[in-house]
Amino acid sequence: MSWQQALIVIVFAFQGLSLAYAQFQITEDDTGFEISFNGLKVLEHLSERPLLELGNGEFEAVFHKGDYDINDTINERFPLPNWTIDQEASGPLTVTLTNEDGLGMKINLDEDSISKNQFSLVFDYDAFDNEGINRYFFRLPSTPEEAVWGGGEQYTWLNMRGRTYPMWVREQGFGRNKSSLLTQIVDEFAKAGGDFHTTYWPQASFLSSRKYYVELTTPTYSELQFSPEGDDEVGHYIYWHWTPVKGEPCRSCKMNFLVGGSLMDIVQELNPGQPPLPDWIHDGAILGVQGGTEDMLGYLRQAQDAGAKINGLWIQDWSGKIVTALGTRVFWNWRWNETWYPNLDTVIQDLKEENVRVLVYITPHLNVEGDVYESLSNENIWLNRKDSSRLVQDFGQFNVTTVDIVNPDPDCNCLNPARIMYKDLMKKNILDLGIAGWMADFGEYTEVDVRTAYPGKWWSDEDHGEILHQNFAQEWCSLNRELVEENGVSDEIMFFMRAGGLRSKYSISMGWSGDQNVDWTQSDGLKSSIVSSLSLSLGGMGLSHSDIGGYTGMPPLGEIRSKELLLRWAEYSAFTPVMRTHEGSHRTFNHQVYTDEDTMTQFARTTQIFAALKEYSKATVLQNANEFTPVMRPLFLEFDTDGDAYHEDYQYMYGDDLLVAPVTEPGMTEWEVYLPGPQDWIYLWDDEATIVLGPKRVIVPAPMGQTPVFYKADSKWVTLFQEINRQFSFSNSL
Ligand SMILES: *[C@@H]1O[C@H](CO)[C@@H](O)[C@H](O)[C@H]1NC(C)=O
Ligand SMILES: *[C@@H]1O[C@H](CO)[C@@H](O)[C@H](O)[C@H]1NC(C)=O
Ligand SMILES: *[C@@H]1O[C@H](CO)[C@@H](O)[C@H](O)[C@H]1NC(C)=O
Ligand SMILES: *[C@@H]1O[C@H](CO)[C@@H](O)[C@H](O)[C@H]1NC(C)=O
Ligand SMILES: *[C@@H]1O[C@H](CO)[C@@H](O)[C@H](O)[C@H]1NC(C)=O
Repeated sequence: MSWQQALIVIVFAFQGLSLAYAQFQITEDDTGFEISFNGLKVLEHLSERPLLELGNGEFEAVFHKGDYDINDTINERFPLPNWTIDQEASGPLTVTLTNEDGLGMKINLDEDSISKNQFSLVFDYDAFDNEGINRYFFRLPSTPEEAVWGGGEQYTWLNMRGRTYPMWVREQGFGRNKSSLLTQIVDEFAKAGGDFHTTYWPQASFLSSRKYYVELTTPTYSELQFSPEGDDEVGHYIYWHWTPVKGEPCRSCKMNFLVGGSLMDIVQELNPGQPPLPDWIHDGAILGVQGGTEDMLGYLRQAQDAGAKINGLWIQDWSGKIVTALGTRVFWNWRWNETWYPNLDTVIQDLKEENVRVLVYITPHLNVEGDVYESLSNENIWLNRKDSSRLVQDFGQFNVTTVDIVNPDPDCNCLNPARIMYKDLMKKNILDLGIAGWMADFGEYTEVDVRTAYPGKWWSDEDHGEILHQNFAQEWCSLNRELVEENGVSDEIMFFMRAGGLRSKYSISMGWSGDQNVDWTQSDGLKSSIVSSLSLSLGGMGLSHSDIGGYTGMPPLGEIRSKELLLRWAEYSAFTPVMRTHEGSHRTFNHQVYTDEDTMTQFARTTQIFAALKEYSKATVLQNANEFTPVMRPLFLEFDTDGDAYHEDYQYMYGDDLLVAPVTEPGMTEWEVYLPGPQDWIYLWDDEATIVLGPKRVIVPAPMGQTPVFYKADSKWVTLFQEINRQFSFSNSL
């Protein structure tokens, strides 16, 4: 019997509920109940398909240099078919679920959390003595056509429907496609191939086309299990681990819902609005270069001579290089290396005079061979393993330790000297040198047997390693935020990160998509860099960008960056908030912007387009900060009544007025673009400015250097766009 056919439907007695619950509608019959909020069914319980099941299981996450083999075994699973819904005098509305053996869960609809479009469920793990229970399966209703997006940063698929996504912070993997030879080879030799769901930045949260968003804040391992398209019975499951500590309620074990309004309303609500970027970011591209002061300046002059707008030089190897069996690597010794970069202190000041900033690189780890580690090695500031030995990890022919940067639980009423020390080190060695930004890399490498000295009292020993692992990247992120704020430089500095989680959107200054392959693939190449920004945007993170040309290569297998890939990536990045190049993992094999004169000339043109867009980009970034509209967004956020707009994963709106459709295949001279509607569009490179009425599919010329872009015919920025056309179009018409 389906829910709708149920014979006895009792509308829950509203007289009994306090006014705070007026937005809920609860219907019950003898098969179950359903709860709607603002008219949308959000919770559904049927005795035969309960809202919650309990279970127990075991978990292993075998570490392979930031990749993990996860073995999550479920031993037993216990549905909770029986229910009661009640409200004690002035207490929260509670749903109590039980089975015949005395297992159960009390779920509170927290009155304080209710607002016009939000509410939270709080799981009362203490209400029942669920001996041995450490797994939870929470069911959410699905509809046949429903699409689901988010999950933090996802790369392969924007719509996650029909797949299970483990939420575990880790390396994204190399190839990320179990059917591809490349991934298979990397799996065979390094267990590092990854899969469609492996990501640096997982979030147990999603936005549904049913117009609601849900997030689980429990900080352990979890999974998003989406039912296949067509299903409206089984539903989706959010699955998680938790071993409660008696008498110490979990501080962050809620399930938050945002319901109603348009998809854009929901996204605006969950995006806290990342601060605007420093003004200099919009003036040109940041060149990723290495090799010492002379080389760095040489690349700058070469680029400037070709007419490139360069606003920054990003020198990863500012601390020096080491030679390992795997090639030359950055020396993780976080201070200026005066022999490798002579005069860097004065060069930084001179470059600033010409509006060129210097950016560096840092991780929360230190190479044990370096003098920075040596000077601190006796301090009690390091992460240890469970057996109390200092955590020392091999990062590929060199060993590192990790600073225990965990922010203590408020209960502790204490400070963590290691966190203060690391901020101090970054201030002295980076800020005081005049550095304007950095890649705050890593955050995925804390294995499950690692322990912090600052756990919450509510962390069980069983969950400690998981909580630390899942949160470490977010701790690293908030440390960077505190550093720039405490020193009053947040307006001038941009740090960028790949690893993250639910709370990163509150502290990060710029996301970066991590290490794409130097290819075109959906699973790990140029295409995936677009999906990663769009999935983040739907989870509340409005600013991100990617390495121009990708990062990871493998020359023996032909995985080498081509000139065409590099330039296509650059031309689309002119329509993202930050343009930044990376030489990649194999700099001498990869095609670089400085490889030949023609490449530099073509690249220079894309940087000029980026700089010409400055005022528009600034306004868009400011709008993200103030109105919470992500800078790069899927078409359907705005064109939500246009069904086709939901299937264009590689097109996006850049701000309110520009539609960008990057060329994501090699060898193209034309490109098909979907123009959503109703809307009048003008092709940016069309000298005649012909108006095209969407919805419509059009084929446009796509010579190198002209990423397909349309603007709204009624945009207030038309003059700027016409100026860009006048300066940069290759005299194309539609
Ligand atoms: C996964 O874990 C279970 C339970 O600990 C164990 O029985 C099984 O052998 C493990 N599987 C693998 C592939 O390691
Ligand atoms: C629990 O539910 C089952 C059917 O699902 C029912 O037979 C049983 O009587 C219920 N028990 C209680 C205590 O309500
Ligand atoms: C994965 O690789 C196979 C084999 O090369 C290919 O057919 C498939 O399209 C790829 N899938 C994705 C999502 O990239
Ligand atoms: C500085 O960098 C050079 C070259 O990369 C390296 O050989 C040297 O050990 C570094 N010096 C220090 C003090 O870190
Ligand atoms: C890293 O440390 C381990 C254990 O201390 C040691 O066996 C190994 O040789 C070290 N590796 C390097 C590259 O120094």
